[in-house]
Amino acid sequence: MKNTLLAPSVLAADFGNLQRDIEMINQSEADWFHIDIMDGVFVPNISFGMPVLEAIQKHAKKTIDVHLMIVDPDRYITTFKKLGADVLTVHYEACTHLHRTLQAIKAEGMQAGVALNPHTPIEVLNDIIQDIDLVCLMSVNPGFGGQSFIEHTYNKIIRLKQLITERGAATLIEIDGGVTDQNAKQLAATGADVLVAGSFVFRAENPIATIQNLKSITR
Ligand code: DX5
Ligand code: ZN
Repeated sequence: MKNTLLAPSVLAADFGNLQRDIEMINQSEADWFHIDIMDGVFVPNISFGMPVLEAIQKHAKKTIDVHLMIVDPDRYITTFKKLGADVLTVHYEACTHLHRTLQAIKAEGMQAGVALNPHTPIEVLNDIIQDIDLVCLMSVNPGFGGQSFIEHTYNKIIRLKQLITERGAATLIEIDGGVTDQNAKQLAATGADVLVAGSFVFRAENPIATIQNLKSITR
């Protein structure tokens, strides 16, 4: 039986009740915390920074998956390690020396992830896939929660899966953006290992039950 991991995106939490929402994820069937860091330069939005991540780290009892939507991420690798990141994902489009960046993330003892914008082809990873622990396929344009899922993502999952298998790599495939109960099952069946879900979880009347449902339909 497949265990597709579920990573609720804290971006959609109620920041006035952040501890409550973190505890909800702790108690739920969710696997990871997905943390979106935006700098207002790489993406047209600013999310939150170090003090908020410090508060999250204090309460979070599951794997912390940090998605950096920032330029020049090398500047902050050590900082995010200190802030509790277990998985640190940088954008392909923001890294001039991606190989060096991934090695620096691993040297800090974190899993190294690479995110691809919707327009970036899988093939740019041909010569680096064996060094990547997780590929995050953006299924919306990064910057905002609550957008609609881009259908072309299925095609990218198939091609990415092919590349991973061909090279004998152990890379996980993460899908980020517009994940709901309408597409989760097909995403898992196509090859997704980790599903990020923000607004679908936090806007639900019963987030715990919504998480449970997403987990059960992707098994
Ligand atoms: C988008 C972020 C996503 C976002 C997902 O830039 O990377 O992680 O929080 O939110 P939903 O699930 O609402 O699309
Ligand atoms: Zn994200």
